Amino acid sequence: MADFQASVIDGMGSTPKRLACKFFYDDVGLELFGKICETEEYYVTRTETALLRDIGPDLARLAGSECTVIELGAGSDLKIRLLLDALDRPAQYVPIDISHGPLQDGARAVARDYPALRVGAVCADFTAPMLLPDDAVTITRGGRLGFFPGSTIGNFSPDEAQAFLRGLHPLLGTGGALLIGVDLKKDPDRLDAAYNDADGYTAAFNLNILKRAAQELDVDIDPDQFEHYAFYNQAESRIEMHLRSLQQQSLRVGDRTFDLAQGELIHTESSYKYSLDGFTGVAEAAGYTALRHWTDAEKLFSIHYLTVAA
Ligand code: AVJ
Repeated sequence: MADFQASVIDGMGSTPKRLACKFFYDDVGLELFGKICETEEYYVTRTETALLRDIGPDLARLAGSECTVIELGAGSDLKIRLLLDALDRPAQYVPIDISHGPLQDGARAVARDYPALRVGAVCADFTAPMLLPDDAVTITRGGRLGFFPGSTIGNFSPDEAQAFLRGLHPLLGTGGALLIGVDLKKDPDRLDAAYNDADGYTAAFNLNILKRAAQELDVDIDPDQFEHYAFYNQAESRIEMHLRSLQQQSLRVGDRTFDLAQGELIHTESSYKYSLDGFTGVAEAAGYTALRHWTDAEKLFSIHYLTVAA
């Protein structure tokens, strides 16, 4: 919470104003994100899941037997199960997540349904370079396979993504691999629609960050005085989500006050979209060999198998 309040003060004092997208995901935010994933417009989750199913045999061959799967962010129960089901006798599953509750629930459920699997959850911020604590993993015959689905990598700029991917080397180790989902550039109308679903779940998700702040922090902010605004910025190859102030207003956060003009934007999220070559370039610059990638027939989404370059 201190972290959230400090981040809000920092973001409101910035030009342009911003809020960090990692604060979207409280219980309500997680539920709304689940709703987004079920909308007609948000092709991301559906497409990646179908693709994961299709490439199972390829993954089993590439990863070999008895590997340790390290999931970065433990959000997607179905996807990790598809991966574990595809692999040949996976030995260990190590989810890493900053939120303790969802991490434990997910790890327990997997442990229950995969009795042969050694499960060791790690509560940590995987965006900071890290090693695994000794008690979370044992050495097995198989290699380490990082799993980072969902195109969460898109929340980083390409430069940040490169630095983040490089920072994973110690975690994955020599001979380690990374399986990563990456959303692709496409018709801007399709992208705009995916972040402006007709049922309004994305709008509610975006506005929830303010509701959360209003509930949890020492602030005077009225979420009703804002509206959702999302569009594809073609020059930057990214979806931008903002909250637009419906009127001139001032926000109090702790003992600070911030003025907003009518129509002023608070940037809440960027979601970068890549070409296949563009992402491969980022991965190679981050010290990986881009061994293989797969896309769906419509070329909406991609999954990449990268290995830590010697
Ligand atoms: C979870 C970060 C991949 O960028 O598409 C969905 C979040 N934001 N709709 C994305 C999100 C608005 C999502 N990621």
